[in-house]
Amino acid sequence: MIEIHENYSLKNKNSFKIDVNSDYFAIPKSALQIQGLIAQKKFKNIPTLILGGGCNILFTDNFKGLIINPQIKGLGVEDKTHEHVIVKAGAGENWDSFVEWTVKHGYGGIENLSLIPGTVGASPVQDIGAYGVEVKNVIIKVNAIELDTGKFRVFNNEECKFIYRGSIFKNELKGKYIITDVYFKLRKKPTFITNYGNIGQELSKFDKIDLKTVRQAVINIRETKLPDPENIPNAGSFFKNPVVSKQKYDELLKQFPDLVSYPIEKNQVKLAAGWLIDYCAWKGKSIGQAGVHKKQALVLVNNGNANGKEILFLAEEIRKSVAQEFVVDLDFEVNIY
Ligand code: EPU
Repeated sequence: MIEIHENYSLKNKNSFKIDVNSDYFAIPKSALQIQGLIAQKKFKNIPTLILGGGCNILFTDNFKGLIINPQIKGLGVEDKTHEHVIVKAGAGENWDSFVEWTVKHGYGGIENLSLIPGTVGASPVQDIGAYGVEVKNVIIKVNAIELDTGKFRVFNNEECKFIYRGSIFKNELKGKYIITDVYFKLRKKPTFITNYGNIGQELSKFDKIDLKTVRQAVINIRETKLPDPENIPNAGSFFKNPVVSKQKYDELLKQFPDLVSYPIEKNQVKLAAGWLIDYCAWKGKSIGQAGVHKKQALVLVNNGNANGKEILFLAEEIRKSVAQEFVVDLDFEVNIY
């Protein structure tokens, strides 16, 4: 039997720990249970939200509808070639436990994505990325169920339409499909990406470079820079790093020689939003119980019992400051509901 709750508190289901309720909250443990759930008459034509770990969402009000929180489990090797393994992971698996499992088995490719909060099913939705690795580089296909029809569909990598912190599941098909499983192509003989940020420096503290030490180095860096949502509720980077034209970048650089940026393709430059926000002196500031983390200006935090509207207000104020100072628009990375 599928677990369905009514008037359910979301406080422990979102990493901002916002205290709101959902009319209905369903926890399907299999694809069949999802199909059974969405076929029910009372759930047709009401707002529906698919929630993974709740680590990239800000609730600004009660949710008047059905939240589906898939808990489909399972990790296993589906196929092997000379150089690769294809691993299938259930959408409800915890992301970091999955990374730990791959490292333990000696499969390389996602060790730089250690300690990212959330579930496997959410990983393709926003193309999670960190320390020079993006999950789109290793995902080969995604199994999903269409909400309206209950039909299965397989999305290959190209069909996922991955973009920086986004995919078809966050854009054209937002809210239309429930991901059930994700397939990853990992290397039996890992190659390491250690040239991003201070990974190299952190790794020099270990006597060798292997999957375990790279994972540990990433964990160490994240633990010093990013607040643990269990202690300080947050949703990681609240904003995306904005992309501007090379021309705009050159103008900005004249005015702000310390500007931090990353060149990307097509004459465009990605700016470090954390730097822009920090420059506007927001780091460590609060409005009421909503705050900007003291070590990383990209991360907004709930200092106690902030509600979602207060956090959104702070985010809008930051956006206005950055627009005023740099004439750059910041987009939210976090989904607002
Ligand atoms: N910076 C500041 N002040 C700040 C924050 C950053 O000056 O308060 C500067 C840093 O000194 C650095 C630059 O901005 O020179 C970039 O900062 P950082 O290396 O911390 O990375 P980021 O661009 O801020 C991105 C991702 C993170 C990911 C890290 C590491 C986005 C929006 N964020 O942050 O992802 O962990 O790189 O790869 O792309 C997330 O998406 O939730 C997330 C945490």
